[in-house]
Amino acid sequence: MPNDLAKFLKQRHSVRKFQARDVAPEQLWQLLEAASFAPSPHNRQPWRFAVLTQLATRQKLAQAMGERWKEQMLTDKIDEQTIQKRLKTSSERIVNAPALILPCLYLAKMDSYPDEARQTAETTMATQSLGAAIQNILLMAESLGLACGWLSAPLFCPAVVRNVLNLDKSLIPHALILVGYEAGKAENRPRPSFDDLIIHFEN
Ligand SMILES: Cc1cc2nc3c(=O)[nH]c(=O)nc-3n(C[C@H](O)[C@H](O)[C@H](O)COP(=O)(O)O)c2cc1C
Repeated sequence: MPNDLAKFLKQRHSVRKFQARDVAPEQLWQLLEAASFAPSPHNRQPWRFAVLTQLATRQKLAQAMGERWKEQMLTDKIDEQTIQKRLKTSSERIVNAPALILPCLYLAKMDSYPDEARQTAETTMATQSLGAAIQNILLMAESLGLACGWLSAPLFCPAVVRNVLNLDKSLIPHALILVGYEAGKAENRPRPSFDDLIIHFEN
């Protein structure tokens, strides 16, 4: 794979620890612009993004999401020590990332169907394209010398996130993308044998 895109695809990896160095607003705009070029059903762009760079906002968000997660873990009967450990790790990741991008699914412009099966398919299409938009962010970040981590926590407490950020209820928070400059160098995670992933290939 000789070209630049192949290089970025291969070297990209999830980063959860960052240097204490801000990301320039222009670079964050470039990431969002990259997201906007992703394919989407009917070209409706069923996504909205919030960018959070203020420490106080990250702390507030981490605190509120942590409280909700703790309730969920208590319901799951997880022991207190494990709960505290998980909350600390999660909070540190969110608070110590210099910038966060919050991708939200936005379904208001998608088609509506009277039956559940087609409605679910429409929502799935929108969700697929949100994933494509996020991947554009990750690859653009890689090409700019930035690093990202993808946290799915907001998907498990969307109302909490909306409440902290005062977001409209038409927005469904799906992830937190940590953005910054990598501290150290995380290992690239192995992939299963490529051959095992192809179930059918006609020459
Ligand atoms: C939809 C999605 C949700 C993810 N959620 C989390 C998460 O909540 N916490 C986390 O540390 N990593 C999360 N990740 C990152 C994956 O763990 C990571 O992509 C995977 O282990 C492969 O590693 P790599 O990205 O370094 O290649 C998520 C990735 C995706 C695509």
